[in-house]
Amino acid sequence: MTAAVPYDAFADIYDAWAESAPVTRENQEFYVKCLVEADGPAVELGVGNGRICIEAAKRGKAVIGVDSSEKILELCETRARAAGVLDRLTLIKADFRDFELPEPAALITIPFHSIGHLIKEEDKRRALETIRGQLRSGGYFIFDHFIFDPDYPQESGVPHLRASRPDWILWEATTRDIENQVLDILVWTDELDPQGVVTSRRYRRIRLSWLTPEQSRKLLQETGFVIEDVFGDFEGRPLEASSTHQIWLARKD
Ligand SMILES: C[S@@+](CC[C@H](N)C(=O)[O-])C[C@H]1O[C@@H](n2cnc3c(N)ncnc32)[C@H](O)[C@@H]1O
Repeated sequence: MTAAVPYDAFADIYDAWAESAPVTRENQEFYVKCLVEADGPAVELGVGNGRICIEAAKRGKAVIGVDSSEKILELCETRARAAGVLDRLTLIKADFRDFELPEPAALITIPFHSIGHLIKEEDKRRALETIRGQLRSGGYFIFDHFIFDPDYPQESGVPHLRASRPDWILWEATTRDIENQVLDILVWTDELDPQGVVTSRRYRRIRLSWLTPEQSRKLLQETGFVIEDVFGDFEGRPLEASSTHQIWLARKD
């Protein structure tokens, strides 16, 4: 059976999958602070399990979360209810390229390189145009992306362990198409019986493209944003040749 959108198939493993990505520990506080300090309506595009927007809501901020996956939105809703902050979240099922907010936003974020799920350049451009259209004048757009490193061992097609529990093991292997700047990520779970014997295996697939900093800059400029800052990490250090991330702060004039 094919999932309606790729992330539907990730809902049952999402928590373990996100927790086992080292960057989630680095980016969480950065985005929570951005949302909490926004001077007006604040939005997270691609909410996932809500690890960022729920934490912002726990600190008193109302957040609008947008995601195209029904199952992921259900996961976020369940976690927000358990945390007692569901009333501070407005969850909208929509695509990055085509969403409408109840009112113009002061801040729109796309954390965790999720813009890369839009593979084609024209789709990223459409998303940025939509984002700009949904911001109020003076509003901010903040997003991050990893900087692709061909020597990064986890992007060489070699399977690696993401997480392990008594009843399942979570694996991942990524192959890359350098010319088209696309990663094909294969994620699978081995379900185990009490003796540790594999009883079933389930594969899930996701695609992720990447942008170079030059491409991000061009895209922001061509879609009418004013670039206010760019960082090379989530501590706010400047972007340098050795940076592993690019974090963009752009404004709608
Ligand atoms: C890597 S997760 C990031 C989740 C969360 N922001 C975090 O940092 O943990 C990407 C999320 O973006 C959503 N997503 C991917 N492509 C999308 C699109 N075109 N429109 C809306 N949501 C999308 C997925 O369903 C998923 O929940």
